Amino acid sequence: MKRINVGIIGCGSITKFRHAPEYKANPYVDEIVFYDRNPERAKALAEEFGGRTVTSVEELYNDPTIVAISDCSSNESHHINSTNALLNGKHVLCEKPLSVSIKYAEKILEAQQKSGKNLMVDHNQRFTKAHQKAKELLEKNELGEILTFKTSFGHQGPESWGVDKSNATWFFKKERSHSGVAGDLGIHKIDLIHYLLDDEIEDVHAFHGALDKVDENGNPIEVCDNVVCAMKTKKGRLGTASFSWTYYGSEDNSTTIYCQKGIIKIYHHPDDQLIVEMKDGEVIKYQLEQIQTNDNQTSTGVIDSFIESIINDQEPIVTGKEALTSLKVIEKILS
Ligand SMILES: NC(=O)c1ccc[n+]([C@@H]2O[C@H](COP(=O)([O-])OP(=O)(O)OC[C@H]3O[C@@H](n4cnc5c(N)ncnc54)[C@H](O)[C@@H]3O)[C@@H](O)[C@H]2O)c1
Repeated sequence: MKRINVGIIGCGSITKFRHAPEYKANPYVDEIVFYDRNPERAKALAEEFGGRTVTSVEELYNDPTIVAISDCSSNESHHINSTNALLNGKHVLCEKPLSVSIKYAEKILEAQQKSGKNLMVDHNQRFTKAHQKAKELLEKNELGEILTFKTSFGHQGPESWGVDKSNATWFFKKERSHSGVAGDLGIHKIDLIHYLLDDEIEDVHAFHGALDKVDENGNPIEVCDNVVCAMKTKKGRLGTASFSWTYYGSEDNSTTIYCQKGIIKIYHHPDDQLIVEMKDGEVIKYQLEQIQTNDNQTSTGVIDSFIESIINDQEPIVTGKEALTSLKVIEKILS
């Protein structure tokens, strides 16, 4: 069996909870090579998951045994790291949001075209069992045409998630995060709606604001901590969405799809992750699995899918082009 080495740029929370354990568990992955500009973080993860560290990003690029790289750096670095990794002949799994601007995102896509290597973006919502089941039901057209939708993604905020564990987090800085909760949580649901509806959001009316979060000096943060929006798709479906870093109770990760013959409710109920309510009164409940939350980290399936795309020389399931389309919606929300 062909086994490959992978590199990871950025050894913070997403690497610790998802990329490193999922690469470790993947049978095609031989060695994980960790790089962070804070070397202690790379060392800690190499000790926890096995593998080695390098002290410069060039060492990852110049290592011919490294076939693929996860770009888990903060948002403002993706267009530098992912572009360079692709141009150095590596397949890339880039964290979301793809970049901090459309111009920079296009630069990554150009590098992908030039290199011919795979570029996948970590829009992991598509992979959860309830979302997969919803996609299956919608593809079979069991509920008739999709009319409207409602989606929400909110939790207590990234200052307790990121490796810094402080209000000085880059997630709160305009130059580093760019898009606040919109690019952090919102982009996941935009990608999910595009995927489930096989459609594209083309018109948006949105409000956003920094309502409650404060930075390390007690000032309101520079990016939005809440977004509410109304949207219209190319196929004429209408929907609403809320994205929040200030849901100070349990996380909300729910979506509802309203169709001609009934409703699909996803992640509204902890035990029945997908519930179908038919117009005639029939209710079908599916027990699938609980969605990953910040406190419940299960395998996302993204790493396996990325590795599979490399091994089988196939286009990844989430392409750079799709991620760029979702980023454009985020830009509309913030404009
Ligand atoms: N897919 C998801 O569900 C999901 C969830 C959380 C975060 N993310 C994304 O993952 C990325 C990282 O987020 P995180 O939560 O791990 O943040 P984090 O703050 O916990 O960790 C980021 C790490 O990257 C390092 N880093 C930043 N820029 C670097 C660079 N240019 N070179 C080397 N190291 C660099 C930092 O030193 C830090 O250790 C972000 O883009 C974020 O949006 C995705």
